[in-house]
Amino acid sequence: MELSRHEQALLAGQRGRAAQKAMEILAALGDIYGAERTVPVASVQIAGVSYDNLGQAGLEFLAEMADGGGRACVLATLNPAGMDVENWQALGIDAAFVHNQAQVLGAFARMNVVTTCSCTPYLVGNLPHYGQHVAWAESSAVCYANSVLGARTNREGGPSALAAALTGRTPAYGYHLEENRRPTLTVQVRGPLGETSDWGALGKAIGDALQGRGENPVPYITGIERASLEQLKSFCASLATYGGSALFHAPGITPEAACHKPPREMLIITPDDLAAAQASLNDASAAEVDFVSLGCPHLSIHELARLAGLLEGKRVTKEFWLTTARPTRQIAERMGYAQVIEASGAKIAADTCCVVAPIRGRFRAMATDSAKACYYAYAKNGLKTRFRPFDQVVAEALR
Ligand code: F3S
Repeated sequence: MELSRHEQALLAGQRGRAAQKAMEILAALGDIYGAERTVPVASVQIAGVSYDNLGQAGLEFLAEMADGGGRACVLATLNPAGMDVENWQALGIDAAFVHNQAQVLGAFARMNVVTTCSCTPYLVGNLPHYGQHVAWAESSAVCYANSVLGARTNREGGPSALAAALTGRTPAYGYHLEENRRPTLTVQVRGPLGETSDWGALGKAIGDALQGRGENPVPYITGIERASLEQLKSFCASLATYGGSALFHAPGITPEAACHKPPREMLIITPDDLAAAQASLNDASAAEVDFVSLGCPHLSIHELARLAGLLEGKRVTKEFWLTTARPTRQIAERMGYAQVIEASGAKIAADTCCVVAPIRGRFRAMATDSAKACYYAYAKNGLKTRFRPFDQVVAEALR
């Protein structure tokens, strides 16, 4: 990869050890993927924040980068941590974990990374516009940025996203290049899509069908007339989880679709496919459910308002987490939604989620409306899952 004089200076260590390490990471990635140059990025979203995933080695790497003078030179935001920073006791997080997680967040803060702790950066101030290059980790947000916003990003890992934050650049390969953003097959969707869970099931159905159809398939999805922000964030999370997709186009829904024609290769998703996807995410009976969670990806203010309506004057009977970004929680407080929700016994868990919090061994089965959460609930925490529409998930918590 060809480096500018500034990049060569970074690589030579003239701007400190952390910037040098960051440039080494980017240069290695550029060489592996055959990038000819780097591109400046407008923003960064960094994943790998929970101490539950990072462990001591990850914490030491971050501390070393902060001590080595690493400082973000573009807007850089953070994925969820393993706890609610202000209300961790309510979630049953132990003090040793809190200590380590606080050190992780402290290291990021020292590097000028904004500790948003949310997987929906586009709801809390990190909102790139059409055509902008960014370097985002967090697969659901990457799919949202590429597809819904029309920004350009690869699926970064934690270290490569941090490296982009500290240098303001990323190697120009993959989804940064026009030729890799063209659709590779048409997906015709037939079936009702109302609830966020329907969109999660659609992401799973398409994701499963994409297996074995090339390395980076870009579906051109037809048959969808409208979609809300909440439906799209659910769909992006599921499509990225089950299909590894970082980009899709949908005429009338995503901005870049207008630049492309539908490819000849065609896949049809039927109502039976959607029903099969729904069924495959259910292996827990109602009686087994002892944990309920909504907010994967993080809840929007619209969803918190809906929850306040559903929970008003009621009492939940199970551990019920509503995961969201702290600024969204603060708006919910101003509107009185948070007070209504918490009076029911449900817990608004800001800064974290049911996947990255250290909950292994605490619960048996989880009810959720998120196809992505179902995947990780089983894979990371060994939980059975009950996959239901939003309102029915609330009903599970009240049952
Ligand atoms: Fe976000 Fe956690 Fe789901 S990071 S997308 S809520 S697994």
